[in-house]
Amino acid sequence: MTEYRIRQHPILPIPERDEIEFSWQGQKLSALKGETIASALFAHGIHVFGHHPRDHSPQGLFCANGQCSQCMVIANGKPLKACMELVEADMQVAPMEGLPDLPKIDRVPEMNKIRELEVPVLIIGGGPSGLSAAIELGKRDVKVLLVDDKHRLGGKLVLQTHRFFGSTNAVYAGTRGIDIATRLEADLRQYPSVEIWTQSTCLAVFSDQRVGILKDGEEYVLVKPQVLLVASGAREKFLAFKGNTLPGVFGAGAFQTLVNRDLVRPAEKLFIVGGGNVGLIAGYHALQAGIGVVGLAEALPECGGYKVHKDKLTRMGVPIYTSHTILSANGDGKVESVTIARVDANFKPIPGTEQS
Ligand SMILES: Cc1cc2nc3c(=O)[nH]c(=O)nc-3n(C[C@H](O)[C@H](O)[C@H](O)COP(=O)(O)OP(=O)(O)OC[C@H]3O[C@@H](n4cnc5c(N)ncnc54)[C@H](O)[C@@H]3O)c2cc1C
Ligand code: FES
Repeated sequence: MTEYRIRQHPILPIPERDEIEFSWQGQKLSALKGETIASALFAHGIHVFGHHPRDHSPQGLFCANGQCSQCMVIANGKPLKACMELVEADMQVAPMEGLPDLPKIDRVPEMNKIRELEVPVLIIGGGPSGLSAAIELGKRDVKVLLVDDKHRLGGKLVLQTHRFFGSTNAVYAGTRGIDIATRLEADLRQYPSVEIWTQSTCLAVFSDQRVGILKDGEEYVLVKPQVLLVASGAREKFLAFKGNTLPGVFGAGAFQTLVNRDLVRPAEKLFIVGGGNVGLIAGYHALQAGIGVVGLAEALPECGGYKVHKDKLTRMGVPIYTSHTILSANGDGKVESVTIARVDANFKPIPGTEQS
């Protein structure tokens, strides 16, 4: 049987976690308490979470960050994003096939009274920016509400196992991203003027300056801040190419989430498009997790990321195709191969240079 969980890692400790049972299409499966539905499914090698209503194309995980909706499933009767919801004991999970039926109702449901709250400062996002801002305000005893839609603070830091560059004084150079997140959170928690809501998504900022927040995924609260600080972070740009929605095509953040945060192995082999720092580091993260990196394509004549990261990959035998781009991801229901081609000085693929 293939092992999809990462049980050994050169950097990350593997925590002991309680097992629970849930069901996927009626079949009982095990999961680890505190993991997302998506990671629980990946731990069993399940990558197709449903089919698109228009063209019936298979849908799976893409961003693992709550932004694309490609990972929708039906969990206990509700359509939910599998990458954001934690799996629960005895949860009944089913694929999202086309458009789900709306639940039948015989009367208009009553609206609960909406709680309203006034705060001097509201920070949306608990990544390094939001945490650093909240720490500075906490030091000055300013009342702050910080909200983040994830279960853990740190934003992209919690996906990074490598040591950061830069200044030791200003940006924790030499410290691994995961450890910077732990330090910033511990620092912040000393300040009583800062209230933290995790698992709480900011849904809207209204013209009357109120901000709608879904607290703990359950209670809708309207917050009126004097100052709103938006620190909701970075998103990956995506390339248009044939087959880019096939299950098995991930944004780098999703890949890092699966291997470094959730300790599941989404593939045996990886091909990377983009030789900036994120692409190069994702390759290094794959090798740490025991995943083979079969190549990296970069459209520029040189990789844009730090040489030290590129050298690590080259030393590990990863072929780097500079002046190349991806033409297609190929496969029946999941990625089985990719086709790349050399590009000219205007980044146009050169006919006759394709290889799969
Ligand atoms: C895949 C990837 C890898 C990266 N790797 C590195 C790296 O190794 N080193 C580096 O220096 N930089 C890296 N970056 C750049 C990186 O994003 C920044 O360095 C840093 O994380 C930015 O911090 P931030 O606090 O602005 O955003 P983030 O770290 O992205 O944090 C934003 C937080 O806001 C939350 N959020 C977003 N929308 C909402 C909402 N509506 N309601 C509530 N919460 C919300 C997010 O879930 C997240 O927790 C990477 C970026 C990406 C996309
Ligand atoms: S929202 Fe879950 S993969 Fe994008």
